[in-house]
Amino acid sequence: MIPSILPTYNRAPLEFVRGEGSWLWTAEGERYLDFGAGIAVNALGHAHPALVETLTDQAQALWHVSNLYRIPAQQKLADLLVEHSFADTAFFTNSGTEACELAIKMARRFWYDRGEDRTEILTFEGCFHGRSAAAIAASGSKKMTEGFAPLLPGFRQLPWGDHAALRTAIGPGTAAVMIEPIQGEGGIRVLPDHCLKGLRALCDEHGVLLILDEVQCGMGRTGRLFAHEWAGVTPDIIMVAKGIGGGFPLGAVLATERAAAPMVAGTHGSTYGGNPLACAVGARVVEIVAGDPAFLPRVSQAAGHLQQRLGGLVDAHPDVFSGIRGRGLMLGLECRVPVAELVRAGYDAHVLTVPAAGDVVRLLPALTVTDAEIDESVARLDRAAEALRPAAA
Ligand SMILES: Cc1ncc(COP(=O)(O)O)c(C=O)c1O
Repeated sequence: MIPSILPTYNRAPLEFVRGEGSWLWTAEGERYLDFGAGIAVNALGHAHPALVETLTDQAQALWHVSNLYRIPAQQKLADLLVEHSFADTAFFTNSGTEACELAIKMARRFWYDRGEDRTEILTFEGCFHGRSAAAIAASGSKKMTEGFAPLLPGFRQLPWGDHAALRTAIGPGTAAVMIEPIQGEGGIRVLPDHCLKGLRALCDEHGVLLILDEVQCGMGRTGRLFAHEWAGVTPDIIMVAKGIGGGFPLGAVLATERAAAPMVAGTHGSTYGGNPLACAVGARVVEIVAGDPAFLPRVSQAAGHLQQRLGGLVDAHPDVFSGIRGRGLMLGLECRVPVAELVRAGYDAHVLTVPAAGDVVRLLPALTVTDAEIDESVARLDRAAEALRPAAA
């Protein structure tokens, strides 16, 4: 008999009832160190006092009015994002997938508005932009598309890192290139800064829009508000979600005026997108991450500490790990053992991690993680690796 929850997830036999900072508790009072942060969502950890206060205040005042009316919290969040990023304008969604949908529509509408027949969007193998019909077509992977044909046309996947293939594919029919500055689900694959710069130049050469998916790598995770800032490039459109809501469902598309101008009244909408609860929380997250001058430098400092400690872990367990990869607090442990086994051994050691493609286990702690928690996570991962040693030998 089918379970009462549609069984599309492979869930761990774990259930949490309370969270605080980087920690989660089960009903039995067992404490787990959360280095998954809800897959890069709980940017400020669990139950951050400022977010609890903001959400509670907003909940007492007003939950929902619809986008038929002005929403002060939405305006505040949009103004903050415009102030702190390349963007001139923002549209709010409830998820990364919905942000992907709008980014695709925006790119196609841009060319429609110019009377040019450019509809193709170039994407990259291993990408993940969500699970909607458009987002799975963008990914093109068998795993995500099997059984869901016919797929939305107009996407072409290119090999990751194959500059020649990209140069051949881009042309007068290309509307946009869509890429994650760091692939998350795809195995923490970092697009090097010089490649992102080159990609921007190539897009400019062909007049093509550059869409960056910063759903996982954005909102401070790499030590800058957005990952593309490291390369010094200006995208046309970015997708944001996960960390921006700190655990409350919220996403956004940020764009330049040029890219967004054709999206006039009636071209897009959402009942819940940009609702007062989500936007109040989102504004507080942005105020803390981008507005507190000490926040992002601390993320980089924590990242340096974690990377250094993980280097020691990898050296201590060459039969379990082969290396580390990633940037900032978006890191991957390259495993010689099946990733599911390491994640399971982590559960036993009471540290939570997230599997990714390519033999990689992701470490995505809260951006507020302390050095002591980093040391503790590595001690627990060391125990997990120790437990796997006989299997690896
Ligand atoms: C890079 C990237 N884009 C898009 C998405 C989809 O976001 P959501 O699950 O919020 O719809 C994800 C989710 O993991 C993601 O990592």
